[in-house]
Amino acid sequence: MTDFVSLPFYDLFHENEHGVEIRRKLPSLLSGVRRSILEIGAGTGLITTSLADSTPAEIFALEPSAGMRGMLLSRLNARAELLERVTVLSCDALSLDLDEPVEAMVMIRVMYALEPDYRRRLWPVLAAHLEPGGLLIFTWRDGGPPAPSPLRELESRQVGRHTYTVLSEIIESSGEACKARYLYRVTEGDKVLSEEEIVGNAYRPGREVIQEELVTAGFAQADAPEGLLAWRLA
Ligand SMILES: C[S@@+](CC[C@H](N)C(=O)[O-])C[C@H]1O[C@@H](n2cnc3c(N)ncnc32)[C@H](O)[C@@H]1O
Repeated sequence: MTDFVSLPFYDLFHENEHGVEIRRKLPSLLSGVRRSILEIGAGTGLITTSLADSTPAEIFALEPSAGMRGMLLSRLNARAELLERVTVLSCDALSLDLDEPVEAMVMIRVMYALEPDYRRRLWPVLAAHLEPGGLLIFTWRDGGPPAPSPLRELESRQVGRHTYTVLSEIIESSGEACKARYLYRVTEGDKVLSEEEIVGNAYRPGREVIQEELVTAGFAQADAPEGLLAWRLA
């Protein structure tokens, strides 16, 4: 789950990326969805508002990290109409408990955080909470985990007199897992005001692995644009 160290950096570094990529692609995939959507790992709500803007559906935004959830609720609170339509769930994905099955599920930039055993147990849980023919959409990048690589700057943003920078290094990589180190740095000119580190694992299963897991859980693959996979519950 997202660490408190990275929270202040989240929207600064993800808003544009989502703006151009995912927000552009999701609406057409969800064009037939009218009743309900579960968003798994809603984070600070960057995608949640987009789902609300592009569909008339009731939204269940599941986010286990209290810090991310706080930012999500602030975002919803800034738009009164969304407070009526979005229910925020604080459990993790495996503990999902909904009153009735949803029409679609969306999981954007979350799967990399799920350990393989957790992920394998998750698909049947999602299938149990999706209506027949319901849609499961998640972000996807082919090619397995990145190879080890030295520390490099990912991006910098200016906030008043301060510069917020994220750097990352891939420490090791094997099978579908890699261990990455992230540095979250705030500077003013040459002076480092703060620098904090997170080391964690990320997972990038191969396409055949994910296909086998989802078919076993009762899903059939549907069309999706580059960067996303879509599956329908048979
Ligand atoms: C990179 S963020 C993506 C947030 C949002 N989907 C977006 O695209 O802006 C990954 C999110 O997944 C959440 N997450 C991690 N493990 C999870 C789990 N087991 N169940 C549900 N959410 C999880 C994290 O708390 C974090 O908010």
